[in-house]
Amino acid sequence: MTEASIIELPVTGGPKLPPASKLPRRLGALAFVASRRRTVIWLNRTSGRCVTVRIPVFGDAVLVSDPALAKQVFTTSPDVLHNIQPNLSRMLGAGSVFGLEGAAHRQRRKLLTPPFHGRSIKAYEDIVEEETRREMASWPEGMEFESLEPMMRITLNIILRAVFGADGTELQQLRELLPKWVTLGSRLTVLQSPKGPPGRFSPWAKLAAYRREYESLVDNLVARVRRDPNIEDRTDVLSLFVRSTYDDGSAMTRTDIGDELLALLAAGHETTASTLGWAFERISRHPAVLERLVAEAAGDDNTYRLATIYEVQRNRTVIDFAGRHVTVPMYELGQWRIPQGFSILVSLLQLHSDPDVYPNPERFDPQRFIDAKPNTFSWVPFGGGTRRCVGAAFAHMEMDIVLRTVLRHFTIETTNAPGEKWHNRGVAFTPTKGGRVVLHRRATPLG
Ligand code: HEM
Repeated sequence: MTEASIIELPVTGGPKLPPASKLPRRLGALAFVASRRRTVIWLNRTSGRCVTVRIPVFGDAVLVSDPALAKQVFTTSPDVLHNIQPNLSRMLGAGSVFGLEGAAHRQRRKLLTPPFHGRSIKAYEDIVEEETRREMASWPEGMEFESLEPMMRITLNIILRAVFGADGTELQQLRELLPKWVTLGSRLTVLQSPKGPPGRFSPWAKLAAYRREYESLVDNLVARVRRDPNIEDRTDVLSLFVRSTYDDGSAMTRTDIGDELLALLAAGHETTASTLGWAFERISRHPAVLERLVAEAAGDDNTYRLATIYEVQRNRTVIDFAGRHVTVPMYELGQWRIPQGFSILVSLLQLHSDPDVYPNPERFDPQRFIDAKPNTFSWVPFGGGTRRCVGAAFAHMEMDIVLRTVLRHFTIETTNAPGEKWHNRGVAFTPTKGGRVVLHRRATPLG
């Protein structure tokens, strides 16, 4: 993004909102809660690609599925459009990148960028392969099982080792604690918080108890990093937090470290596992794709595997929205003028279903991404602009190595069963039946 593209001109005139949803407000809100995905598809069909809605928790919002408007939202200055409110920081702590704005956000992104790029990521490949093999050792042969749950364990363990630098007792305790906490936190993110102190047995009190347990485990991990005489050689993200400083020489506070680690886990664990679950669901229904993947897995190339991952992310987008919050008195979006306080929800899912960009969008076809590289503003599973997912390259490396390892060690049975339906797990969309597959161990692994 160039500096020129983020200079905003003052906007004059009152609000000029896009057409409102044709559903009465209450019914619209109910429909949104009952089935967000279907409601958005319906809104697009009946009211167009830019619609004014009122939805639970986020309030007044404009829903955007038009590629040009989405591009404008993603390239607008982050001083004009803040992160959506509420966001994950409400449950996981205000000190993470999700809760930061302006200079504080830029600084944190700068600190987060090195461990999630290029050479640093290579260092985590062995952890990914090891965790996949460990999980694969107990997989049943010749009978249907859900790929999603093992993928959840694999991606959790990878983050705990590569990001938290955990091993031994802490690794075990975090493994037990975090899935419960993140699942509860994700569910509560989209509910109204209680006005007063939460009741003793309420889910909010439970969340607070999980937090206390977590903080004491992070204390142990930080203390261990500080004691490590080889701290400079450590590759985990926590060590980087402990030893790095911002441009002004200050270091991350202990609270911010705890919040950020948790945010990385919440943002990176379920999303990656859900995409992998869909990958198994998709490739077992597309024999020609599977055949090409198997042939490629015998060697070192990963061109077709990456194209398949891109296509899974397009065809089965797990995060449906990237959201922003209007902070200026009036924001001009294309022909519309949107007042302060409105949310803008860019529908990633609808952008991926645009027949002008993706002919026959329902068809699953990795060849699309062999013929053309993903476009920054029409292939957006990781959102866009200054808030684009910091873990995108890490997630691609993980998915690539997990798929390669499974393909090398197992044959996957194909099926002509109908595709699994979409299930909303709170944050991510997963295959309803957990991405079921039937596998057989190869006598001799490929590669
Ligand atoms: C397939 C896997 C993943 C998907 C689909 C995904 C998707 C997203 C999306 C849609 C956003 C919001 C972007 C926006 O608002 O424009 C986001 C933000 C973020 N993601 Fe991911 N993500 C994935 C994996 C990961 C991983 C592995 C990590 C780290 C370990 C991670 C860390 C983050 C963080 C920290 C943010 C907040 C960035 C900010 O606010 O500046 N994500 N992700």
